[in-house]
Amino acid sequence: MDCLCCWSVSKPLYLLLFFYFFSCTAKAAFNLSTISFDEGYSPLFGDGNLVRSPDGRSARLLLDRFTGAGFISSRMYKYGFFSANIKLPGYYTAGLCVAFYTSNGDVFKKTHDELDIEFLGNTKGEPWRFQTNLYGNGSTSHGREERYRLWFDPSKEFHRYSILWTAKNIIFYIDDVPIREVIRNEEMGSEFPSKPMSLYATIWDASNWATSGGKYKVNYKYAPFVSEFKDLALEGCPSDPIEEFPSFDCYESDIARLENADYATITRRQRSAMRRFRQRYMYYSYCYDALRYPVPLPECVIIPSEKERFRDTGRLKFGGSHQGGKRRSRRRGRGRVQASNLEYDPDM
Ligand SMILES: *[C@@H]1O[C@H](CO)[C@@H](O)[C@H](O)[C@H]1NC(C)=O
Ligand SMILES: *[C@@H]1O[C@H](CO)[C@@H](O)[C@H](O)[C@H]1NC(C)=O
Repeated sequence: MDCLCCWSVSKPLYLLLFFYFFSCTAKAAFNLSTISFDEGYSPLFGDGNLVRSPDGRSARLLLDRFTGAGFISSRMYKYGFFSANIKLPGYYTAGLCVAFYTSNGDVFKKTHDELDIEFLGNTKGEPWRFQTNLYGNGSTSHGREERYRLWFDPSKEFHRYSILWTAKNIIFYIDDVPIREVIRNEEMGSEFPSKPMSLYATIWDASNWATSGGKYKVNYKYAPFVSEFKDLALEGCPSDPIEEFPSFDCYESDIARLENADYATITRRQRSAMRRFRQRYMYYSYCYDALRYPVPLPECVIIPSEKERFRDTGRLKFGGSHQGGKRRSRRRGRGRVQASNLEYDPDM
């Protein structure tokens, strides 16, 4: 617990209070056992641009003019907790996407499930932004994007980013602050992810989409762009995607451990941190985008004060040429064009 560290930083008082508020929401960081790269992951693409540390406990993913890079969990999980301490590239990062996500798109081409954290680079001096999203059973026509700013510079230090996925809910975390919770709702049906997924981490050139709707491209003058992943954690239930039932490696105790872990419960304090985060740092939510979804999707919990702020467009303010429903194909590295993965761009 290092709440006290906050007080030694000389920043304006309000910043300090925010920092304090977000760093001290729980008594301590999650109780996680971290694993080495080889214990849980395999290289996905990028050859030499995936660099493991000598002790095998962390990995760097680089993007240069030749390729990005990525790794994948060696197994698939049906319900799990996927987490890493991540540091992003700094300086000029426009056009970059660093993604930390779960998917089964390689196994279920038309009916895939996916949970996303995607970091979107920016021009020099402008902050990184990120988005979260989910798909279930190939629901690519129902994007569920939310976009946010961060309360720190993610290129300066490591922060823990986590995705919890259980039969009941999904929680996205930054450090121990839950930033989004999706509670499973009957009406979501199969749009709530329900088949085993792998964890992916990638860095790739998303010039046509990531920054101001593709206005600012990757500038390879600043390459290589280096992202770092350490203190890797994978908990949950290893599962075979084809079998109806969890494989032998998945014990009830795995599920119980997942559901009883500290990260599976949002404390009152964390809940108010989540509320504040969303009030202050969320700048797009599909739940308030009435142009796109005249009837909000079933899991949306409409909060009147938020609705007021988002003015039925899902955006905090109008900017550029909003077309509504514009989609972009997403490319996640060399040769990995996932045509089924359509992307909605709230920055347009
Ligand atoms: C942390 O988790 C381990 C097992 O995963 C458990 O034995 C230990 O008691 C936990 N510690 C705390 C403080 O909860
Ligand atoms: C998933 O989608 C496929 C194809 O659209 C459909 O046939 C299937 O019934 C869906 N699965 C569930 C569980 O709804």
